[in-house]
Amino acid sequence: MTVQQLVLIGLSGVGKSTVGRALADRLGWAFIDTDDAITEREGMTPAELLSQRGEPAFRKTEESVVVELAHRTPAVIATGGGAFLSARSRRALGERGFICYLDATPAAIAQRIREGAGDVRRPLLGDDAANLEVRLAQLDAERRPFYNHADLWVPVQAHAAEDAAVTEAAVRRILAAWSTEAAARRAAPQRLERLGAAEPARGPAAIVDTGAERYPIWVGAGEYARLPERLQRLDLRDRRVFLLSDGSVMEQHGRAVAEALDAAGIAGASYIIPAGEQSKTLRVSDEIYRWLAGERAERRDVIAALGGGVVGDLAGFVAATYLRGMPLLQLPTSVLAMNDAAIGGKVAVDLPSGKNLVGAFHQPRAVISDVDTLRTLSRRAYIEGFAEVIKHALILDAVLLETLRGDAARLTGSRLDLDLLADVIGRSSRLKALIVSSDPTEQGLRAILNYGHTIGHGIETAGEYTTYRHGEAVAVGMMGAARISAELGLVPPAFVEEQGQLLRTFGLPTTAPGVQAPAVLAAMRLDKKVERGRQRFILLEGVGRAVIRGDVPPELVDRVVRELVGG
Ligand SMILES: NC(=O)c1ccc[n+]([C@@H]2O[C@H](COP(=O)([O-])OP(=O)(O)OC[C@H]3O[C@@H](n4cnc5c(N)ncnc54)[C@H](O)[C@@H]3O)[C@@H](O)[C@H]2O)c1
Ligand SMILES: [Zn+2]
Repeated sequence: MTVQQLVLIGLSGVGKSTVGRALADRLGWAFIDTDDAITEREGMTPAELLSQRGEPAFRKTEESVVVELAHRTPAVIATGGGAFLSARSRRALGERGFICYLDATPAAIAQRIREGAGDVRRPLLGDDAANLEVRLAQLDAERRPFYNHADLWVPVQAHAAEDAAVTEAAVRRILAAWSTEAAARRAAPQRLERLGAAEPARGPAAIVDTGAERYPIWVGAGEYARLPERLQRLDLRDRRVFLLSDGSVMEQHGRAVAEALDAAGIAGASYIIPAGEQSKTLRVSDEIYRWLAGERAERRDVIAALGGGVVGDLAGFVAATYLRGMPLLQLPTSVLAMNDAAIGGKVAVDLPSGKNLVGAFHQPRAVISDVDTLRTLSRRAYIEGFAEVIKHALILDAVLLETLRGDAARLTGSRLDLDLLADVIGRSSRLKALIVSSDPTEQGLRAILNYGHTIGHGIETAGEYTTYRHGEAVAVGMMGAARISAELGLVPPAFVEEQGQLLRTFGLPTTAPGVQAPAVLAAMRLDKKVERGRQRFILLEGVGRAVIRGDVPPELVDRVVRELVGG
């Protein structure tokens, strides 16, 4: 018998009532909002209770209301943002409920609240509009470790403040998971003990859940030492692991991985490709297919990609195609691969006529980012990767942007601060994971990840992939996109300046001397992002507010590109 109770948790303003009511309607169940129940019982709203009795007293009241409501079935229960912080409440909700965590960025939630999509006053958020996002980010950091105990993670990142399609998608995901796997998830060993524990267990930095596939992203120093434990959790222990890597990475880090696999009693073999983009071809894939055939690799065996984006894309492509698909493990070793290439399942090889032209969507079983490996990365590749981190912050997360501003010196200094790095890469990975989970096959929202990439790809191509590396070209491309945004009146000119300042602080370029404007513009016209002859640009209306525009005047693009490349 499937459970007859759904519990929605997540930050205040994320949309628990909207989604909850829709679910209750669909199922014909009661809808219960714990904040409403508190108001009814106490004759005061949570906000009033908080200000009159203080937080500890309010939490006690909340706990007793939640514990009582947790008996009600069939019901959809939307909890106040802080209710899940109480161990007693968590356990009580877990007794009968299938617990779903609704997640979106603080920027998106702030926008939703500002535009009045959330109707009630949010007690803990205060009245200060400017600080709303910062306050939400603090609450997010504080509560996420508890929210992570949910049975199901549901991305509800919306492009507009109140997006009916996002609500509908969330409802469908929850109903699908409820009818197929709620019972199994609820039967997980020690689930109630974990829910009731005072201190939440440390989980992965992020997860991707596309509705069809789900996988963790682990980010930390010393992750390779934990590999046996991770593989056991992934249920990949009694299979062979075929490790693909390039010469430079294998030399530095192959041994650590091989030893971890040995220690876990995992058999396998490894294959080394020459480092660099020239290995991302059908010819090299073909060599790997032959090797796998010679090794009698089976469909249940695992392909592990140890390296930067080149290895990840190539190994991913092989894993997507050999035997019609094998499990893939991403072990990224560059900043770029950790926070971007390894997450999201886009795998591809290049053709002479263009990059990434032959590919597939093939999600990995896990992404394991050991930031220790970044010590051996070349300075240029290390810095380049931050262009995508900065991009994630610009399009989605003002608070991460502040961290990057404040900690730029520590992040780019010669002695790596691994804890800080793990924190920043973890947060950046989480943003990518959220977008990919909301839109796995790039039907809409995922396009915002292309901020800076329209002009960036043009610059990369015009420089024949040697003058400027991907991240460097994207940095310049972001300057182009910011300037276009300013010219269209979406952001003030100061925004462009500040963005440039930050990129330069990281040692990233903001102009691209050395390539020719006509070559950049010609390459842009051939880009995959051109749809029916129209160039699509991702622009910003501010930090965390990306818009997709297909109506940028070609003359403006022309002028901006010329300014960036200097002629
Ligand atoms: N699939 C996606 O979504 C996606 C997204 C962005 C980029 N990409 C792809 O990623 C590739 C670029 O990624 P990249 O910059 O990581 O390239 P890369 O794999 O070529 O790595 C860059 C260089 O650094 C070396 N290296 C990597 N990690 C190292 C380490 N820890 N120590 C020492 N050397 C190390 C590599 O040998 C290589 O020479 C491109 O092919 C691009 O198309 C894919
Ligand atoms: Zn990119």
